[in-house]
Amino acid sequence: MRRSIAGKVVVVIGASSGIGRETALRFAHLGGHVVVAARRPDRLASLRDEIIHAGGKALAVPTDVTAPGQIERLLGATLEHFGRTDIWINCAGIGMVAWVTDTTDAEMRRIWEVNFMGTFHACQAALEQMMRQGSGHIINVSSLAGRFALPLNSAYAASKHAVNALSQSLGRELQGSGIRVSVIMPGLTDTEFFDAMVSKLPGRGRSVVSAMPVGRVAEAIVRCALRPRDQVIVAPLGRWLIVLAEAFPPIFNAVARRYLDVRAGAGRPWLDAEVGPAAERET
Ligand SMILES: NC(=O)c1ccc[n+]([C@@H]2O[C@H](COP(=O)([O-])OP(=O)(O)OC[C@H]3O[C@@H](n4cnc5c(N)ncnc54)[C@H](OP(=O)(O)O)[C@@H]3O)[C@@H](O)[C@H]2O)c1
Repeated sequence: MRRSIAGKVVVVIGASSGIGRETALRFAHLGGHVVVAARRPDRLASLRDEIIHAGGKALAVPTDVTAPGQIERLLGATLEHFGRTDIWINCAGIGMVAWVTDTTDAEMRRIWEVNFMGTFHACQAALEQMMRQGSGHIINVSSLAGRFALPLNSAYAASKHAVNALSQSLGRELQGSGIRVSVIMPGLTDTEFFDAMVSKLPGRGRSVVSAMPVGRVAEAIVRCALRPRDQVIVAPLGRWLIVLAEAFPPIFNAVARRYLDVRAGAGRPWLDAEVGPAAERET
């Protein structure tokens, strides 16, 4: 059933740039009352002002999803200002490109804290109010990396697989409750994501394949709010890549090997190891 956005209270975490920012603008344009959250207060304030100057309603609440109590404070500010929350979009995320052998515990934990624990805590906060209302829609922005894992993406792909599992499990728990859960899986999108990501390799990966415009993902999120679906894949070849990864692993492995060659060149940590196949070959 198609819903309407006008008058709905829409929380967007990760709204200071990229997909979240564009999504917040589109919901505001459709008459949603938008609460924008992320860490950078200046970015949030200018987005809030842009929405208000265009005749919309908006509230900016600086929020770090990894800081204790800040997601609860975001919920409190939303209820104080708008009295309810109808659509809650979890879009905060950071990326990382590194060999598993180069990934420290602290780096792995950081990716998990933002991408998974942030989403988990935000789902709990949204549900606290949505259960009182008996209605609501949680939209978690995951990634194609939530369905298959390319090399050098272990931390990011693992966190997004976990976001997919959380979304699926929660959606099934909530059947019959009036509350929906959706997961959005974009492919490569043209945002600041690659500038913000932790990269332990030369370059940042923008040139591997061309990126989609951010509006395409924001539009898919709006469409999902209007006609809720459990899962939405937003990428030109996304479905085919998933089929390839799941049904034809040898072909997908060849694609992954090509990706690795482009991203990492000829270097391989196991070639540099002092013991093991490389060292044995030399003796
Ligand atoms: N770009 C892509 O190719 C791509 C592809 C698939 C999926 N995605 C996913 O799409 C989502 C949005 O990414 P994007 O591409 O729009 O990148 P982006 O422009 O870098 O946006 C990331 C957002 O997350 C926020 N954020 C990061 N850490 C946070 C924290 N600790 N607490 C609160 N907010 C935090 C950032 O704001 P502050 O820095 O102000 O906190 C920013 O608003 C992410 O979940 C990402 O994994 C992106």
